[in-house]
Amino acid sequence: MSPSTRRTLVIVGAFALIVTGVWGTAVRPWQEAENYSVIGATDPAVAAAEAERRTPGASVQDVALTAAPTTFTIEGAEVETWAFNGAVPGPEVRVQAGDIVRAEVRNELPEPLTIHWHGIALRNDMDGVPDLTQDAIEPAETFTYEFTAPDPGTYFFHPHTGTQLDRGLYAPFIVEDPSQPGGDDVVVMIDDWVDGTGRTPDDVLDELLLMPAEGDMGHDMSEMGGDSPTPPMDHGDMPGTTSADQPLVSDTGDVDYPFYLINGRPPSDPAEYEVTPGEPVRLRLINAGSDTPFRVAVVGAQLTVVATDGFPVEPVDVDTLFLGMGERYDVEVTIDEVGAVPLVAEPLGKPGEAVALLRTGPGAAPPADISPTQLGGRILALSDLRAASEVRLPAAPVDRDYSVELTGGMAPYAWGIAGTSDGALTLPVRDGDRVRLTIDNGTEMLHPIHLHGHTFQVVTDAGDGPRKDTLIVSAMSRITVELDADNPGQWVLHCHNIYHAEVGMMTVLTYVR
Ligand code: C2O
Ligand code: CU
Repeated sequence: MSPSTRRTLVIVGAFALIVTGVWGTAVRPWQEAENYSVIGATDPAVAAAEAERRTPGASVQDVALTAAPTTFTIEGAEVETWAFNGAVPGPEVRVQAGDIVRAEVRNELPEPLTIHWHGIALRNDMDGVPDLTQDAIEPAETFTYEFTAPDPGTYFFHPHTGTQLDRGLYAPFIVEDPSQPGGDDVVVMIDDWVDGTGRTPDDVLDELLLMPAEGDMGHDMSEMGGDSPTPPMDHGDMPGTTSADQPLVSDTGDVDYPFYLINGRPPSDPAEYEVTPGEPVRLRLINAGSDTPFRVAVVGAQLTVVATDGFPVEPVDVDTLFLGMGERYDVEVTIDEVGAVPLVAEPLGKPGEAVALLRTGPGAAPPADISPTQLGGRILALSDLRAASEVRLPAAPVDRDYSVELTGGMAPYAWGIAGTSDGALTLPVRDGDRVRLTIDNGTEMLHPIHLHGHTFQVVTDAGDGPRKDTLIVSAMSRITVELDADNPGQWVLHCHNIYHAEVGMMTVLTYVR
């Protein structure tokens, strides 16, 4: 399948589910007869929302990115991949809240490219969704993204074209809070790696699409390994899982990967970060993987969770936490011992691990296959998280109440999202609406669901659930979120498993007037 066919598939997938769309118990039901026009990326409302975001005298941060084929080394082997500016991860973008980012992107890939600024509440026409918010950047062409980055926090950027996220095309995007003092700050980008190891991500997708129908092969993925050196994946239940709101399911990912990397490095040659002993260091954990949730722990240390998806939470101490694809957690750790302390990210339901070292002083690196006892300790539950008071959504009546159904399965390989729709219009909202989405996962797999351009709040009785833009919805479970419709445009809502998204697990939140 050509890249452009694939891109079309995504768009078609977004709309093909309309016939099966379920109607939410709308507080103000969407009337098919309601007169509306869609507010698209080129609508003046988009520029007007950006103008409101701009602060006088905001500084402009220039970024130059070139996406191109490159080679890099994993465990002594040269792998060919695609990357930004020749590095995996690409260059970190670090700005202050309110800055204007001007990113000139040159596409030297053999196929079209867009960049999505994951988690940023930016102007819709800079959101990087091909055919929805912009035309893709053709090979040998350049496009300049320019937008205000309004909210401090940990974000990242990646392509929104085909399976390119599963190449080396990703990098951190950190928005600092000018009112907060800096301290030790370490960005930890975790990734599942297959590209250049005998298969490209496009090959992986083609293999998945060849999945025979259920019954011919059942749910056994042991054939999926291809030439990869790792044994077949274990689809058994995850150990150490007790709480009902944990993302614990028998199926966590579809693909086994030969490598798991932190900041582009394998466990045998880990990235090292100098940190000050006895002082809290902020770890910005980012899951840039395409098909792998990770469980993260630091040997001998507690994790104090202080933010998720960029937005602060009331601090909570745990031993370990899960990170779905596209999710971010900021945690503080204090390392007292002098030496090299491993941070381990264990892929859920798959063999292998990713490792980085926090170095407080001289000392030998621990063995590459270390498994911290903290991985079996107290796990962060979604119900442990409370939004910090300054970022809670104010109580407000719900204007739109929609059910969003996650559908599909492995055999045949087909995933989808069904939501309230009217013709080609899905999840219609009007500027100023309080929107409630109940995400209902009727499948046997977890899905990290990501909404562009907004940070919703997880609905809890106390009204203080965490603000997030990417949320693990466990198999056969349901989570309700609310958001304020304050950023006009068309915004995709999709699974951050890139293979699920590619085959259609994507819909659009549509502003109308
Ligand atoms: Cu990082 Cu549409 O996603
Ligand atoms: Cu999914």
